[in-house]
Amino acid sequence: MANPLIGVDKRLRAAARWESPPQRRCPPRGARPTGDGALPSRPAAACIARCPGVGMMMSTLRRRVEALWRERCMMTSRPSYDWHNAQEYIEALLPEDLRDLEAVGKVGANVPIQPTIGAGVAQLVDVLILAARPKRVLEIGTSAGYSAIAMGKALRQIGGKLTTIEIDPRLARAAGENIRDAGLDTVVEIVIDDANHVIDDMKGPFGLILQDGSKDDYLQMLPRLMDLLEPYGMLVTDDVLLPVMDLPDEARRYQYALSLYNDALQNHPGLQTVWLPVGDGVAVSVKAARAER
Ligand SMILES: C[S@@+](CC[C@H](N)C(=O)[O-])C[C@H]1O[C@@H](n2cnc3c(N)ncnc32)[C@H](O)[C@@H]1O
Repeated sequence: MANPLIGVDKRLRAAARWESPPQRRCPPRGARPTGDGALPSRPAAACIARCPGVGMMMSTLRRRVEALWRERCMMTSRPSYDWHNAQEYIEALLPEDLRDLEAVGKVGANVPIQPTIGAGVAQLVDVLILAARPKRVLEIGTSAGYSAIAMGKALRQIGGKLTTIEIDPRLARAAGENIRDAGLDTVVEIVIDDANHVIDDMKGPFGLILQDGSKDDYLQMLPRLMDLLEPYGMLVTDDVLLPVMDLPDEARRYQYALSLYNDALQNHPGLQTVWLPVGDGVAVSVKAARAER
């Protein structure tokens, strides 16, 4: 956007000159009244820049143009915010039961604790479920059941069901107990197996799929998950911002895997995707061709 202040003085002078009637005359600087009390005069265009009245008018106009320009800049350039402050602020706005990671309940001794989707993504998926009202939801990667419990509560409200797949039997057992304790065992079914094989024999369609399994498997599972999605169904993928996160060296390969996966989402002709900076990043893709614009 061009700065309108560039050359403003010139334009104001030109405008003032244009508005001055041609016969208007101003007294020259230091002029004294003549014998009949009238001031000697000369053409306005010649003295306009020096005339005190016009000078004041120009500086007032200049200030007003500057104020308008600042206002316009405020509207068009995005005000910045601190990323971590924003995350903390959003977390504090989320429902209490999602913020409380104790909601996961038991994991059991010697069972490796897996990162959950976290409160922000749980709330996002719940909102999507309540809005889209899918009858069937599929989750890859149950862990101890945090996301399954969050989704199960939303699905109970709308009469939907969740199938969640977990490869580690210890985690699946812990999830089973947690889901029972939450009173959701009639809503959530756990399949204990490798999702890579299970999805091949699974019958669709699903209205929503949450991909939160092994990051190494995201890309290879995508075509089959597309088959399992109903038209306009949603594929929600967790951890999509790993490529831009500071991670230890041993996690570098996940960054590469996720960056390939994000490319695949971006270029998929049958998916419309939005990437959101919630938790470790979440992509929400709708099974739909790009709308005509
Ligand atoms: C990030 S955790 C899932 C967290 C869970 N969604 C939550 O929010 O509580 C990933 C899980 O995927 C499981 N997993 C990894 N590969 C899998 C596979 N091929 N099939 C099924 N589960 C798998 C892991 O055992 C782990 O529990």
